[in-house]
Amino acid sequence: MADRPLRGQKALVTGANSGIGEGVALALGAAGADVVVNYVSNPEAAGAVVDTIKAGGGDALALRADVSKEGEVRAMFQEMFTAWGTIDILVNNAGLQRDAPFPDMTLEQWNTVLGVNLTGMFLCTREAAREMIRRGIRTEVSRAAGKILCISSVHERIPWAGHVNYAASKGGVKLFMQTLAQELAPHRIRVNSIAPGAIQTPINRAAWETPEALNALLKLIPYGRIGLPEDIGKAAVWLASDDSDYIHGQTIFVDGGMTLYPAFAHGG
Ligand code: BGC
Repeated sequence: MADRPLRGQKALVTGANSGIGEGVALALGAAGADVVVNYVSNPEAAGAVVDTIKAGGGDALALRADVSKEGEVRAMFQEMFTAWGTIDILVNNAGLQRDAPFPDMTLEQWNTVLGVNLTGMFLCTREAAREMIRRGIRTEVSRAAGKILCISSVHERIPWAGHVNYAASKGGVKLFMQTLAQELAPHRIRVNSIAPGAIQTPINRAAWETPEALNALLKLIPYGRIGLPEDIGKAAVWLASDDSDYIHGQTIFVDGGMTLYPAFAHGG
């Protein structure tokens, strides 16, 4: 891969002040992209990501918006376009969990998860797609008119008891991505997903912070280690670059084999 394969490209990563989003923003920045670091709370953390990208020679901008709110999303994209003119890469990363046994799940827990994880992707992708379609291909930076990446989850495939809102949102992401890939292809906009497995971030702290929890988690991961945000960052750089120009409408599982039914290694 060329040294800075995303040089000159304008990217926006939602939920980029922690976890996977932070890892993706840093990786895109290191690959030469200018990066909008979207966040909803904790501006200091967003500022730290911006500073790291700038220290590496790239440009970066922290913009606050709740991705589930149409007005805030539109204002964020307007600010980005005012600052940098356009967008080449959108990474729909913002996501959260509000877990509960099904009979106890509140409508608020359901709506919050669907609102951020799925409606947030709709609102951000619509703004990005409108601009990419209007602008067309910038031949000086890419063969595509735009790249849209959805950060899904192994739970777009693996059912997950106690997390029905989250699993339903990720199942939705699967056909959201595939349908948009079909619809936006004539505009030369590439749309793909990354489905992470267990990545060591704040969202799943309980699953890795004690040795007992980590041991139980590792039983679900054939490759024998927990994932790191940079594992996702590297996949995102590749999917955003012309090295993957013929990859379209695909979900790449980055999960250490979590989707391989590990319980069947010694059973069945
Ligand atoms: C969830 C994590 C979980 C992982 C594997 C992710 O999508 O957000 O909490 O550890 O899937 O189950």
